[in-house]
Amino acid sequence: MNNKVIWITGASSGIGRSLAIKFANEGWQVAASARRENLLKELNDEKPNIHPFPLDVTDHEKCITVFNEVIKKLNNIEICVFCTGIHDPKSEKSLNLEKIKKIMEVNYFGTINSINSVYNYFKEKKSGHISMVSSVAGYRGLPAGGAYCASKSALTTYAESLYFDMKRFNVRVSVVHPGFIKTPMTDQNDFPMPMIKTSEFAANEMFKGLTKSNSFEIHFPKSFTFIMKVLKIMPNWLYLKLVKKGMKLINY
Ligand SMILES: NC(=O)c1ccc[n+]([C@@H]2O[C@H](COP(=O)([O-])OP(=O)(O)OC[C@H]3O[C@@H](n4cnc5c(N)ncnc54)[C@H](OP(=O)(O)O)[C@@H]3O)[C@@H](O)[C@H]2O)c1
Repeated sequence: MNNKVIWITGASSGIGRSLAIKFANEGWQVAASARRENLLKELNDEKPNIHPFPLDVTDHEKCITVFNEVIKKLNNIEICVFCTGIHDPKSEKSLNLEKIKKIMEVNYFGTINSINSVYNYFKEKKSGHISMVSSVAGYRGLPAGGAYCASKSALTTYAESLYFDMKRFNVRVSVVHPGFIKTPMTDQNDFPMPMIKTSEFAANEMFKGLTKSNSFEIHFPKSFTFIMKVLKIMPNWLYLKLVKKGMKLINY
């Protein structure tokens, strides 16, 4: 058992939940946040070193309150992983203004609210690590994913900017770009998801990236993210042609 502390948002399900369990198994104290308090309590029953801190990340004042509660209870934070996110593939097929705003509010502004709550703490401490979970969907615009892709793309470029700002204060910033991971979020998708992996796989990859390397980008599975990286640097005409062809192939 060590006394290192990680704060994870989005810890009630999917990738965040598996990551909380992984860090707890490695002996870390885990501050676990999400809205569903009952799921956080279940985690705490299973692993006493996972501590529930219920939070809706769209409430920026509550983010600050919860940050203060974490420090009060656990004394310190070494790493923050802001993993909250929503997706609504059904509404993405038409332009739904309310849904687009909601996705941006949670995925982008919710993460910024979370970063805001730890910003001065890490700056003054001159150490620490802020990691945010974006997606390979932020590399380029994908069919029926405009709001989600835009929110993740915004997050990725924000992470790049924050990297430079925090470097001066010896604070590490990283961004996580998962490929397809089986979670309640992807269970909503109605199209084939190539090379899909479990949330435990994602948690192991993230644990390695967060604790054993110093890289800015943590991405997995490599076989899939490599393809996405090639698409990212392709000229528009080729990218659009290939994706159109792919959509025809899967009848989407
Ligand atoms: N699964 C994939 O293939 C994949 C790929 C790339 C990136 N990602 C990203 O990975 C992250 C985790 O996704 P997942 O697949 O694990 O989905 P998930 O199982 O649906 O988990 C989403 C988490 O976000 C929390 N959350 C949602 N809205 C919130 C809010 N307003 N305040 C606080 N917490 C909130 C949920 O908890 P509550 O509902 O209890 O609040 C839940 O814990 C997301 O950012 C997602 O975009 C996923």
